[in-house]
Amino acid sequence: MIKTTIKNERLLSHQTECLVLFCIEEKIPSGKLAELDTKFKGIIKSSFKNKRFEGKLNQVLLLNVTKSIRADHLLLVGLGEGAEMTADKLRQAAGTAAKCAEKANFKTVSFYIPANNSVKDVYAGLAKSNDSFTQTVVEGGLLSLYHFDKYKQPAKEKPSRISQIILLANVKSQVSSMRSAVSRGRKLATAVAASRDLISQPSNTATPSYLAGKAREFAKSFGMTCKVLTIRDMNRLGMGALLGVSKGSEEPPAFIILEHHGGTKNDPPVVIVGKGITFDTGGISLKPPAKMDEMKMDMSGGSVALGTLSAAAALKIPLNIVGLVPASENMPSGTAIKPGDILKSMSGKTIEVLNTDAEGRLVLADALTYAARYKPKAVIDLATLTGAVIVALGHQAAAVLGNNDELTAHLQQCGEVTGERLWPLPLWPEHEKAVKSDIADLKNIASPGVGAGTITGGAFLKAFIGEYPWCHLDIAGTSWSGEEKPYTPKGASGFGVRLLIRFLEQEAKNNQRPQT
Ligand code: BES
Ligand code: ZN
Ligand code: ZN
Repeated sequence: MIKTTIKNERLLSHQTECLVLFCIEEKIPSGKLAELDTKFKGIIKSSFKNKRFEGKLNQVLLLNVTKSIRADHLLLVGLGEGAEMTADKLRQAAGTAAKCAEKANFKTVSFYIPANNSVKDVYAGLAKSNDSFTQTVVEGGLLSLYHFDKYKQPAKEKPSRISQIILLANVKSQVSSMRSAVSRGRKLATAVAASRDLISQPSNTATPSYLAGKAREFAKSFGMTCKVLTIRDMNRLGMGALLGVSKGSEEPPAFIILEHHGGTKNDPPVVIVGKGITFDTGGISLKPPAKMDEMKMDMSGGSVALGTLSAAAALKIPLNIVGLVPASENMPSGTAIKPGDILKSMSGKTIEVLNTDAEGRLVLADALTYAARYKPKAVIDLATLTGAVIVALGHQAAAVLGNNDELTAHLQQCGEVTGERLWPLPLWPEHEKAVKSDIADLKNIASPGVGAGTITGGAFLKAFIGEYPWCHLDIAGTSWSGEEKPYTPKGASGFGVRLLIRFLEQEAKNNQRPQT
């Protein structure tokens, strides 16, 4: 694990391999940067003048400054225009800088943290989100330096890795608040890394039982309770939809229940439900081979639920929170469900399975029914549910659908700050009608030609929602990245963990306000 250290030293006397300075976009450096530049005989100014560096978002310039200050190198990283600054741009810039330092073979990277008052002046946009500068930098740095290399034989020459991030405090009085910001940033990055690890693990390791084992580990480490329902329990509860999906597989399914008791005893919890398909072949409605390997990520929702619960417990959020993960493989075999089969769900509603590849909504149906037992104050489900969400929103945002506009808006706001964008889609009576079956209560896909695949997926889920506010996040386009992004490496993103933590923390705050 990368070390994070706070140091309160003068910028010019701080000894480090690489000192990062965040720069806003401007014609000529001003403020602290201009002041500093006098020590470097104007190299920063001339870089701006020659347009080698202009402070554009995620632009970098590495300068050797051994002769002028105690740092060996100065790494300028751009934030874009100060007035347009957001927490996420800062997170991106920190990630970009950390990765640049890693690629340059440095072991340590230091980030200069400006004084609180100059943050308000220079990074006007950032002040709006009211987020801690330090926490955002720690998040960006740690998230960008994540690697999944468990299966790599130790190379002769190991790629160079950063082992320490230093946060250089400008003002002594800021150190104590920085301490808690660093600790929060670390906890979040650790939870995201845990989710990414689970998602990245191939399905011959990450089986439903493996997920259950990990949930038990998290429960032990963070003081949560964990219960795992087995096939016998599922039969007893009548979870015919989840059992139906798992029928084709040799791997037993698991229904994971993780509980964080941070609130008072009778306080209704927030329930987070995550799709836990550890591999989605499509079943008898088999998927084409291209990129089928990526379907090991079909338990992203479940992994994010487990990561979120762990972070919530680590941060001691004063709220009751429950994580539910219906976990199963979706395999074709002689025992698998077939198109046309009818399943009876835990709710009692029957489902005609017209496409075995629309399996996520089946396992979620039983989990959403189970959720009602908690009389929750809200239920949020996360699922890599439809390829259609990629058609609608690409990889830039997850779709959010539900039965409560306030909850939707709140989640969307949280995602804006954490850089995990959500975009709402409607859920109209016509969509609900589209998943009604001729011979059963529901069918798991709409008829051809109806279109709106993400919405009809959501409409199917809605049939299993109890009397609680609910939102469904379709994360099929955002939980896996085909390209490297400023703080998300190729592959698993862990999308949702930081957004949900922000949401839960705000819920906890509202909870503590006396009810009027
Ligand atoms: N797991 C897939 C959705 C998916 C697609 C996730 C791409 C990540 C990337 C889901 O189970 C699925 O197969 N959905 C079908 C639904 C259809 C049969 C109605 C789809 O999107 O094609
Ligand atoms: Zn599928
Ligand atoms: Zn799936």
